[in-house]
Amino acid sequence: MRENYGIDIWGEGNFVIQNNTVNINHKNRPSLLEITKHIRQKGYKGPLLLRFPHLIQKQISTLYNEFKRAKKEFSYQGNFQAVFPLKVNQLPNFVNALMDVSKKYDYGLEAGSKAELVIAITNTPLGSPITVNGFKDKEMISLCFIAASMGHNITITIEGLSELNAIIQVHQEFNHSSKTNIMPKIGLRIRLHSSGIGLWAKSAGYNSKFGLSSTEILEAYEVIKKNNLLEYLWMIHFHIGSQMGDIAPLKKALREAGNIYADLKNRGAFALNAVNIGGGLAVEYSQYAESKELNYSLAEFANDVVFTMKEISRNKGIEEPNIFTESGRYIAANHAVLIAPVLELFSQDYHEKSLRLKEKNPPLITELHDLWTSLNRSNAREYLHDSLDHMESLLTLFDLGYIDLEDRSNTEILVNLIIKKSVLFLNDGTEELKELQNKIQERYLINFSVFQSLPDFWGLKQHFPIMPINKLDEKANNPATLWDITCDSDGEIPFDANQALYLHDVDVNKEEYFLAFFLTGAYQEILGMKHNLFTHPTEVSIKFNENGDYELHNIIESQNIMNILEDINYNKKDLQSSLRKQIKVSKLINQKEKGKLLEKLYLSLSENSYLKTIQANNL
Ligand SMILES: Cc1ncc(COP(=O)(O)O)c(C=O)c1O
Repeated sequence: MRENYGIDIWGEGNFVIQNNTVNINHKNRPSLLEITKHIRQKGYKGPLLLRFPHLIQKQISTLYNEFKRAKKEFSYQGNFQAVFPLKVNQLPNFVNALMDVSKKYDYGLEAGSKAELVIAITNTPLGSPITVNGFKDKEMISLCFIAASMGHNITITIEGLSELNAIIQVHQEFNHSSKTNIMPKIGLRIRLHSSGIGLWAKSAGYNSKFGLSSTEILEAYEVIKKNNLLEYLWMIHFHIGSQMGDIAPLKKALREAGNIYADLKNRGAFALNAVNIGGGLAVEYSQYAESKELNYSLAEFANDVVFTMKEISRNKGIEEPNIFTESGRYIAANHAVLIAPVLELFSQDYHEKSLRLKEKNPPLITELHDLWTSLNRSNAREYLHDSLDHMESLLTLFDLGYIDLEDRSNTEILVNLIIKKSVLFLNDGTEELKELQNKIQERYLINFSVFQSLPDFWGLKQHFPIMPINKLDEKANNPATLWDITCDSDGEIPFDANQALYLHDVDVNKEEYFLAFFLTGAYQEILGMKHNLFTHPTEVSIKFNENGDYELHNIIESQNIMNILEDINYNKKDLQSSLRKQIKVSKLINQKEKGKLLEKLYLSLSENSYLKTIQANNL
């Protein structure tokens, strides 16, 4: 992991290490570093969110091709169709790219709220599917009827019996007033007995918030039949939870859903012809071979879905249903990479250059110095233990007043250097070593907010692959803890000796150093919080032209300070006038200075709230 940051585990061949940087494995293979520098030269500082539409295209075509292959392999008669669940990423630059690259697939959108439904109606081509899940009131159901009147292929998934009654009511009211016979298609979300696994397992199982129990399914069927709406009932739906790392629960869920489908079909639900298996297709976020998050491939997933549906259809004597998916994470995660500059290293004091050795040092310090300079692979463990022992004695001598603060500082620095050196030589994963790594970890201050850009790390400890995008020709030896710039101690990614992240020793006054956080395209952008009023980072879409060169598109700079405040309902004019007035009445500055100060103030208010300059560098 130390050398390539697990890029071969999580990278899916999308990124490669070449010429000491991370390059995009597409067309002319530009490096993330050159793209980052290019954007920063245009004056955009702070964190950057890079979008790669070619990766969205890759995910969509891989999904469709895998199901096409599986269908052929098992001579499956049903079709394969898919929608993108908007909750995973609703931002316009993502959705526009998604719809643009998926044109040939009849790809649609899934909505879970009224606002998402508006995005779905305005972005889905007529005829491509729209599915509507989640709790709905009569207004939301009416919106579905309006979409159906426009000619959209829209399916309302019924999550509860009262929702079905509301649909029947809206159907009558809508068509009565407009003298039409408009009716969206109906799906039934089933509450599976099987549940998922992992952090997002609660979407299924007996106690799940969503779906109909078997008793309710039977009741819903009767109500639909009684109201002569069976011709619209075409889909059953389930979703067993996101990031399903294990294939076993899916197999169980498929059998359960398949049998419910077959039962309804044989009972008389003649229009039923699709099983929607929801989302859940997992992404490999791990950077470490020993802690991989998923145990199956997309090919296995597609085979299992197709094979199970085929078996059930044969056993129950029904036509093979169309297969429908709502994969979100799998489609969106890898398209976005967050690049964040390192602002400062906090344990630099433990650097050799900070030593204040005297003409005559206490003997134990001289010994520590000798241990450090003569430490090698064969004596590392012994010298390490000696140094820890010396440290204890020296700290006691300090407490008793026998040595001074400079001696104590030298002790800490020398022991730190000895630990660093011996950890490098030993590198044996023992508990002792893991503990020592914790002691010598370096704290990197990063120009980003964990709350805004990695909320699932903050809330659920979901890890994302992290690596530097420069200096990859040098060995990274510092066990690293990452601090974000929020004033919150939760805004950190602490060093974990079991999943260790090592970064480089850098002097950020002399050179730039950037970290990349990968697979951040699913859920993170919209779940991101404005804690401390740090908002969405500056975003840029990276597209490739016919010559294979990259181009920067759709640049949206992170919100400026005034707009952030306006967003949370401060009155911009009031704020400005208060600031102006306070400068005007100040007795501490003269008239000429007041003008200059006001200009300066307006300039800062037009900047985004991420840090721009710290120490001598320009970040
Ligand atoms: C009904 C439904 N479909 C699809 C998804 C997308 O799941 P994923 O992103 O794991 O593919 C979700 C996510 O929670 C969901 O609730």
